[in-house]
Amino acid sequence: MSEWRYELNLSQVPDDWAGRNRRYPHLRMFRLADVIQEPDTPLQLYELVREGVLHTPGHDGTFETYDTFLDRIYETSYFNHAQTQYLAADGEDWIALSSVQVQEEEGVCGLTTVRPSHRRQGIATALKSWAIADCRNRGMARLVTRIHEKNVAMRMVNERLGFRRIG
Ligand SMILES: CC(C)(COP(=O)(O)OP(=O)(O)OC[C@H]1O[C@@H](n2cnc3c(N)ncnc32)[C@H](O)[C@@H]1OP(=O)(O)O)[C@@H](O)C(=O)NCCC(=O)NCCS
Repeated sequence: MSEWRYELNLSQVPDDWAGRNRRYPHLRMFRLADVIQEPDTPLQLYELVREGVLHTPGHDGTFETYDTFLDRIYETSYFNHAQTQYLAADGEDWIALSSVQVQEEEGVCGLTTVRPSHRRQGIATALKSWAIADCRNRGMARLVTRIHEKNVAMRMVNERLGFRRIG
């Protein structure tokens, strides 16, 4: 699998960064930490993550069962990083996620995904902009990410947000 590595130096991000985004009055944007106690949260997250991973170009077409996700992925990748899991919902339906894990002074970007019904409306850009502003405010120095070379959509989202390729 050929992945491209990107970074964004957060010291270059201006103070008003998040405010530059388009507004989405019909969507609710929240963190996983805001809903961590809700009984439906693990399943809602699983469905979003599963679809996003299966839709990621270069992925092998398989994904864990819900039980395996709960056993091996939910806690380490999401629950333990609940403050930096940025989500959007349209009514009751969760429609987008942009995931970051804090590792010392840097944020490692994980999955960003938007349900097909809501793509090409700037939602990934908006959620990731919020992530960038929030990580900067939390004192992180940079964000890093890896993207499959064939994932033109995600490469475009990141490049338009200022990420530069480093490998
Ligand atoms: C990648 C993904 C998250 C983008 O979400 P999105 O909300 O549709 O992205 P945006 O609307 O913010 O797109 C911003 C820009 O990126 C580019 N872009 C987005 N999708 C694109 C596509 N399918 N093809 C080409 N360019 C694309 C465009 O330049 C777009 O701006 P425009 O619509 O004004 O032309 C979404 O396609 C997705 O969920 N894909 C499956 C999961 C995945 O691959 N995730 C990344 C792995 S981490």
